[in-house]
Amino acid sequence: MVDASSPGRTAPDGSPYPDRAAPTFERDVRRMFTHIAARYEWFDHVASLGNDYLWRPRAVWDLDRFRDDRPVRRVLDVGCGTGELARLVARHYPGARVFASDFTRAMVVKAEESARRHGERPSLDFGRANALRLPFADGAFDLVTNAFVARNLSDLGGALAEMGRVLRPGGVLLTLEITEPVSASFGRVFHAYFDRVVPWLGAAVSSAGPYRYLPESLKTLPSRSAFLATLAASGFGRTAALPQSFGIVTTFLAAAGPPAPQSR
Ligand SMILES: C[S@@+](CC[C@H](N)C(=O)[O-])C[C@H]1O[C@@H](n2cnc3c(N)ncnc32)[C@H](O)[C@@H]1O
Repeated sequence: MVDASSPGRTAPDGSPYPDRAAPTFERDVRRMFTHIAARYEWFDHVASLGNDYLWRPRAVWDLDRFRDDRPVRRVLDVGCGTGELARLVARHYPGARVFASDFTRAMVVKAEESARRHGERPSLDFGRANALRLPFADGAFDLVTNAFVARNLSDLGGALAEMGRVLRPGGVLLTLEITEPVSASFGRVFHAYFDRVVPWLGAAVSSAGPYRYLPESLKTLPSRSAFLATLAASGFGRTAALPQSFGIVTTFLAAAGPPAPQSR
């Protein structure tokens, strides 16, 4: 049994520092995102040196080249955080109803505030949902998206299968995630920054625990090829992994249902 009152692992400044090996991991991830919700978006732009402004639009561009040509009417964004990807998707598919979901209440509140501030159209809805137990019917969505969520999931394969369940046959899952750079020499530069500078900066301007957890979380994410294998094992057919910024992030795309039969 998970003791709901135990604080979980904390950094020296008392901030949450989730430990994947602990039975309280999922709850601690939620506590961590509750703790940083107010400053999450700002720090994300700073820590990524503004690159995240490019990564999400590029991922949607990749998605458009991968998906079938059926109209996009219903989209689910999982782990929406402050709603940056959901707002982008809502603007990109003006005919679609977009549901932005997250299991952290403080993030959903922020996402709603941001959408109001940006004058977002009314077909963008918000609500709480856990990626592992989505409260939607089978085949309810044409697209399911998620950005920078996969590293935080207690059961990656289970969550991918669950996202596949709510996609219509042929519907597409987009997962954008931080990944290992494609070249070892660039990887050394990236890790000097990501493993040392970002945690230091995070502790200086925000909280220590979440930004110690960040590089740890990348180590637990499967490699690009293993991620594609996990998608296939979770029931997806056609898949692709498209690195951006020398592989610092990757757009993973997967069509729901078995691969189309090869034409002879
Ligand atoms: C790093 S933030 C990314 C937010 C946003 N997608 C973005 O692009 O900035 C990860 C988000 O995933 C959410 N999250 C983590 N695990 C989740 C789960 N099992 N179900 C739903 N949301 C989850 C967190 O609450 C957090 O808001």
